[in-house]
Amino acid sequence: MSGWQNEPFVIDVKSGETKAYCMCGLSKNGPYCDGSHSATDTEPKVITYDEDKVVYACGCQQSSNRPFCDGAHSKL
Ligand code: FES
Repeated sequence: MSGWQNEPFVIDVKSGETKAYCMCGLSKNGPYCDGSHSATDTEPKVITYDEDKVVYACGCQQSSNRPFCDGAHSKL
């Protein structure tokens, strides 16, 4: 199980929370980094939020705005 899916991950984030999103596509815990990038030259996108909000994280790995959804999954 890779954890990736053909729709965005809808994530409720809280102010002060930090998330590390996978940018290499190798994580088994998508959309989050699990350290699998260590064999690549890619780093996770680490974001600390300053407000409570809902985040739509890319699940299909095809977004041109990763780690966020841009609707690319609808064309798969
Ligand atoms: S596992 Fe993909 S960026 Fe860390």
